[in-house]
Amino acid sequence: MNRREFLTRSAAVCSAGWLSRYFPLRAEEETPALEITELTIPLPIEREFSALHISDTHLTFADDRDTEKNRARAEVRLEVFGGRQREMLRASLDYARQRGELLLHTGDMIDFVTAKNLDLTREALAEQDCFASAGNHDFYPTQGDGDREDEEYKAIAYDRVQAAFPNNLRFAARVIGGVNFVAFDDVFYYVADDLIDRFKAEAAKGLPIVAMCHCPLYTRELFELNIGPNRDRVAYIVGASDEEIAHYPKWCFKWGYNQQRTNDTTRAFLDYLREEKALKAILCGHLHFPWQGQFSETARQYIAGGNFKGQASEIKFVPMA
Ligand SMILES: [Fe+2]
Ligand SMILES: [Fe+2]
Repeated sequence: MNRREFLTRSAAVCSAGWLSRYFPLRAEEETPALEITELTIPLPIEREFSALHISDTHLTFADDRDTEKNRARAEVRLEVFGGRQREMLRASLDYARQRGELLLHTGDMIDFVTAKNLDLTREALAEQDCFASAGNHDFYPTQGDGDREDEEYKAIAYDRVQAAFPNNLRFAARVIGGVNFVAFDDVFYYVADDLIDRFKAEAAKGLPIVAMCHCPLYTRELFELNIGPNRDRVAYIVGASDEEIAHYPKWCFKWGYNQQRTNDTTRAFLDYLREEKALKAILCGHLHFPWQGQFSETARQYIAGGNFKGQASEIKFVPMA
């Protein structure tokens, strides 16, 4: 499946114009249209229910509680992401609320850590029932400063960020409508040492699992799509081999990132996940375009597009025929 084959439609948001004081639209602006990807995921459940899956909102705001450098950075990054992130998040919250849908967010709610971005996150997620996994940008203390992408770096802002979210960002599980949603941290292309054991404990509960993370998980199909026909791009997925990563373009290595390398623990987790029959779907983001593909015999992987540009996936979880 390629990007043109996505079942995508644009849907005007039938918002009555309910405006929050936190996400105001300017008077002259119309409520933005969301680009909704409609998905249906059959599961061994009794009743159908729906959720709105969004990812990569990339809020870029700062105020006088933040450094001058971060305020300047926020202005630059606001334009990078089109300048309408708050409006798109507002429209997404309205869309989910009007339909009584759960909101699922798979990371990069913020572009980098500022007091204002965390306020906006806390307030948005307080008004809407939401289950979330973190993204790499959610832990960047500033954006573009040679982000190291390791645990020490993540720890700089971890507690402040965690306080803005409704569930634990390292690992969380929540049963909704007979589905066990399991969110875990793979934001820097590796997972925690105890993730296999924690995931197995969830699988032992006997419910269908929908996993949520930020970075997509390796499949050959997605790897080939992302590096492109000239094989000159970076895949941005978890679990590429060292040999594959060795062929990534040099810019990927210059900032001191972990170069999207994974480790033995993560490889073992992915091997386990490919065999785990309780796993029925994986929801993720990070790539900023919607996509889906088969991950294992029992599970497809669904990537939500960039919420900063109004992309969102409406998922119907339906009983299996
Ligand atoms: Fe992102
Ligand atoms: Fe990301």
